[in-house]
This record gives sequence, structure tokens and C-alpha cells, in this order.
Amino acid sequence: MNVSLSQFQPLNAHQIKSVLDPVCLQRLEKLDVFDSIDSTNTYLLQQSRAFQGLGWACFAEEQTSGRGRRGRTWLSPKGTNIYFSLLWQFSQQDVSSLSIAVAAMIITALKKYGVTQDIKLKWPNDVLFSGRKLAGILLERSGSSVVVGIGLNTILPAETADMLEGHSIGLVEITDAPVDRNYLAGLLLNELLNGLFVYAQQGLSPFLNTWKNHDALLNQSIMVHTPEKIFTGVMQGINEEGELLLLNESHQLQCFRYGEVTVRMSSPSRDR
Ligand code: BTN
Repeated sequence: MNVSLSQFQPLNAHQIKSVLDPVCLQRLEKLDVFDSIDSTNTYLLQQSRAFQGLGWACFAEEQTSGRGRRGRTWLSPKGTNIYFSLLWQFSQQDVSSLSIAVAAMIITALKKYGVTQDIKLKWPNDVLFSGRKLAGILLERSGSSVVVGIGLNTILPAETADMLEGHSIGLVEITDAPVDRNYLAGLLLNELLNGLFVYAQQGLSPFLNTWKNHDALLNQSIMVHTPEKIFTGVMQGINEEGELLLLNESHQLQCFRYGEVTVRMSSPSRDR
């Protein structure tokens, strides 16, 4: 692999916007690109109360306190990966299946970028390539707004890759070419500006097929870790609400709205 950090393209608001469809551009009130910030999610959560528009996007070259799901840290070294959040106003209250829809939107953006094979989704919303984590999603609600945060690995510096013990992968390892970050960032933003609009009107159903066609856990023996208990069984896919379906050892079908999944009889896949 010949791609080095020196070939890295800085993020640029004008270039990102040039990728957007006119209708998506209209839905975007603001787009910020920061050299360094604590967390793009934290920043937009702070702006959400006063925000009157529909969408506000924020990218950063570095996050000093990047956050992952379940209170984890999201390692965010400078000028390498994509750290991106979108603040979006929702009029409806129930957005519980949104993370499933957003995962499907990322798949669509990656396919448009040219990553067509071996991308899978691990419920609820980890994006994997050949079993290694390529992207993660952190959704946070604030009043009638939601902040959708996406971390997508493009180049993992050796030190970061070591800290993640080989569980994560960067896009350069997949494409073996310099990453056109502004194009990729534009594709992701465009997909979200389209997809969140569709989700607000139609819910999860337009995204279900994409999610189901990329299900990494289907028919696998898994453990679902909930705060109450660990459940074991065979994964049967997801239902119309995006809940995980588990056929347990008593041959009963159980639905899970939340929980963390590990695959049995292999090393548990780890979040970063
Ligand atoms: C996960 O744990 O898988 C979710 C990771 C989400 C990371 C992104 S990076 C941009 C945004 N800002 C944050 O602090 N977190 C999200």
C-alpha cells in the first residue's frame, strides 16, 4: 500500500458543497469546517437550541474529545479520517429507528464512492469492511433536533491502528488510492440531507432493504448484551422497526431495541 499521509487532501467547505444536489443544498443552512474542535457532535448540540433552520453540518480535521457510543472515546487524529456531524430538525418525536436508516445511508454513499463489495452492517449501525470497523455512528437528541455524528476511517495512522488492535480499517486499505476526502464528505452529506428528509416523511421502510442486504450477523450465533442480562441465540435479521430478532435456545423469537452484540465462538468484535 503506497498511500501516505502526505497525500492527504484538506477538507474544504466549497468543494464539499460542490458535490451536493441543488435540493440538498437548499436544506443546508450552514456548513462549518474546523481545523480542530473538541467534538463535532458536542459543538452542534450546543448550537441546537438557537437553531431555526433544517440542517447544519460540521466537519473537523481533528477532534480533541471525540466521542463514541456508550461513553467510549473516538480516537480522532488530525488530517486523517472524516469526523462529521449533521444537526437536523425533526417535527416527529419517534426517531428510534433513525440509526438503522443512517447506517443504510452510509452504505449508499460508500457505494457511490466506489466501495461496492464486502461492506456490511453490524446491528445497530457499525459499518464494517471484511469484518473490521470502517465507520461508526453516534446519534444524540436535543429537543426537536437530532445530531447525527459519523466517524469514517480513511487513513489510520500506525499509532491509532495499533491502539485499535487491528479491529478497524481505513478506506485507503480498501481502495489502495489517495482518498478524495471532499468528494467522500460531499457524498455522505448529500445522502444524509436526502435520507433524513425521506425518513421524516416515510420512516424506516425506504432504508430496510439496503440494511438487510448488508446484514453482517444474519444466521450467526450471537450474544446480545443488555444492562439487565445477556441473551444468546441465532440472529434472524431485523424487523420493520429496526429491532434485532433473536431466535433463542427455547425457539422463541425475541426483539431487541437496544443492546450490544458479540458473535459467539469467535473473538468478540470490539468497538473503538
Ligand atoms: C461509535 O462508537 O461507533 C460511534 C462513533 C462516532 C464518532 C463520530 S466522529 C464525529 C462525531 N463527533 C463525535 O464526537 N463523535 C461522532
